[in-house]
Amino acid sequence: MRKPVIAVDGYSSTGKSSISKIIAQKLGLVHMDTGALYRGITYFALTSCRLPDGNINLPALFEQLPQLKLGFRKINEELILFLDGKDITNEIRTKEVSENVSLIASQPQVRDFLLQTQRAIANDGGVILDGRDIGTVVLPDADYKFFLTASIEERTKRRFLELKNLGIEMPEEEVRENLISRDKTDSEREVAPLKQAEDAILIDNSQLTKKETIELLLSYIKEI
Ligand code: DC
Repeated sequence: MRKPVIAVDGYSSTGKSSISKIIAQKLGLVHMDTGALYRGITYFALTSCRLPDGNINLPALFEQLPQLKLGFRKINEELILFLDGKDITNEIRTKEVSENVSLIASQPQVRDFLLQTQRAIANDGGVILDGRDIGTVVLPDADYKFFLTASIEERTKRRFLELKNLGIEMPEEEVRENLISRDKTDSEREVAPLKQAEDAILIDNSQLTKKETIELLLSYIKEI
């Protein structure tokens, strides 16, 4: 029997990735955190494509995209992001990457470049991809589509704790501002903006624990 293709989109810090990861384990699917790809390109741009004034040199980045060795490797049933042979899991979570990733993700050249990587993995089914445009652009024919949202207060709390656990100290107000500004840029960009697909199931998990959200998603997957 063919395993399903599942798309999970939604706002920053709604738990998309951690929830998708657990659903993948439960259902025996491969999980791809597509935000990590945009973060990986942002990390590359920040380390290798800077203008003398410190800003990112976008034309230089676009020129280097075809040679970029960025991709996932399957390690212990998990997809781990590598750049030029180096595991960059931690490097892509820094404040600097978070502050610049929406700019990079709004570039059509970057989105086109990453489209194939994302679609290729879904060819044989048995995948769950989380991101912002999976149900609308990357996998419009996905078997199941979910769109996650939660209040800004709840998301700020979650992101603050997540960063703290990673050893990154950031004032809550700054965390909140970063979430608001990223959601705004992601929703307002011209190419593949963050938006709910017409046929996606909306899940507001402001009042739900991670476990309850997972159970809710699984209940739909079983029902259909
Ligand atoms: O899920 P995340 O916070 O790690 O994503 C980082 C950024 O990447 C987010 O601000 C928007 C962008 N992104 C996107 O534009 N499309 C996707 N499919 C996934 C992420």
